[in-house]
Amino acid sequence: MIKISQFFQSIQNFLKPKIPRFLALILSTLAILHFIILPAFTQQPVTVRVLMQALEANQWQPLEEKFEEENPDINLEIIEGPNDTNLVEDLYTSAFLLGDSPYDLVYMDIVWVPKFAAAGWLEDLSDRVSPAELDKFLEGDVNGSMYEGGLYRMPFRSDGGMLYYRTDLLEAGGYDPPETFSELMQISQELKEQDIADWGYVWQGKQYEGLAAMFVEILKGHGAFWVNPDTLEVGLDSPEAIDAVKFLKSTINEGISPPGVTTYAEEETRRIFQNDDVVFLRNWPYVFALAQESEISGQFAIKPMVHEPGEPSGACQGGWGLGISKSSQHPDEAWRVAKFISSRETQKQYILKTGYVPSRKSLFNDPEVVEKYSHYPQLLEVVENAALRPPIAQYAQASDILQRYLSAALTGTMTPEEAMNTAAQETRNLFAS
Ligand code: GLC
Repeated sequence: MIKISQFFQSIQNFLKPKIPRFLALILSTLAILHFIILPAFTQQPVTVRVLMQALEANQWQPLEEKFEEENPDINLEIIEGPNDTNLVEDLYTSAFLLGDSPYDLVYMDIVWVPKFAAAGWLEDLSDRVSPAELDKFLEGDVNGSMYEGGLYRMPFRSDGGMLYYRTDLLEAGGYDPPETFSELMQISQELKEQDIADWGYVWQGKQYEGLAAMFVEILKGHGAFWVNPDTLEVGLDSPEAIDAVKFLKSTINEGISPPGVTTYAEEETRRIFQNDDVVFLRNWPYVFALAQESEISGQFAIKPMVHEPGEPSGACQGGWGLGISKSSQHPDEAWRVAKFISSRETQKQYILKTGYVPSRKSLFNDPEVVEKYSHYPQLLEVVENAALRPPIAQYAQASDILQRYLSAALTGTMTPEEAMNTAAQETRNLFAS
């Protein structure tokens, strides 16, 4: 490395014979300013931007700090969005539709991948990851990151819906955890009548993506389906699917669920479960760590969702990961972030802190993880047997149709039959268009 004084002297020596001394002095000072001092001041780290739900943006702070410490040439900027996944999706979608997205990274819910990839908004990451590396992730998360053979997302955290129940309330009434929908109803009813519980069952009934996620579990437990992704056959108007809607509606009609349940997203249901005496809650694994720090700490457990006798249990496959925006000016720096975030070490630290579910298989049985969350080996079974929302490019529209009509049935503006017949027809029209 050459020193500034040497550089200064050599310019002066070069200029001396050609021009007067004072001019040589001015020119060499300008050269130093131009070549050495200004660049030193203007060499900013590259900024890589990502948008995510507010709840998680806060939880990412330690990751951001660690990443920047290890990568001083990159400034990771996290932008807080709303908490409903579909609202964040809308923000990304309008950014892409308006032209060059301001986001270099796309923190993606598993259900956005086909749409974003089909629209050409994402970089194909296949060449950046080896098959051996991908093999370390849960199959469902990898499959959910692919579209037509390309890889568009590095899985970060997985997700699977499950049933939480209050062990103390069940014990007080002398019940075992339920296996079927009718057992859940009966236990709820009796515990309410005995004044042991305020509510039987809370679930996400608001008109948003969480409603569709919850509903695929109820569908699967009734032996019904939404859309077959291979044939695009629609199953929403089958008698079993209509029964699934009737079950949800009966929880409200019979006072098992609070009437406000049709306006609740994940966070509202978590708060009620933690603050009131609620026997059952449908939610994602993130609730576990938060509820452990609440008043019901040590008084609840989890199990796979209830079902009809002879039908399987349904756990909706959820999960989040990072894709790279095609319009990013800094795809390599964005990739460094994606690699860091999806690494084993980062995932481990993150889930130890938050209770989210890893996407790397080996973490489910990691001694430190199991010491903190003894239910993780059991959780692996839940997320490995997931119920899928159809991985199709028209998913956002199909989900919107289902959300609208399901919500109409739950709030009583349509009967379950009318709602599901219309939803099925509109979905078929969508695929025919
Ligand atoms: C969770 C899941 C995601 C799902 C969302 C619905 O964040 O991980 O896949 O779409 O909940 O609210």
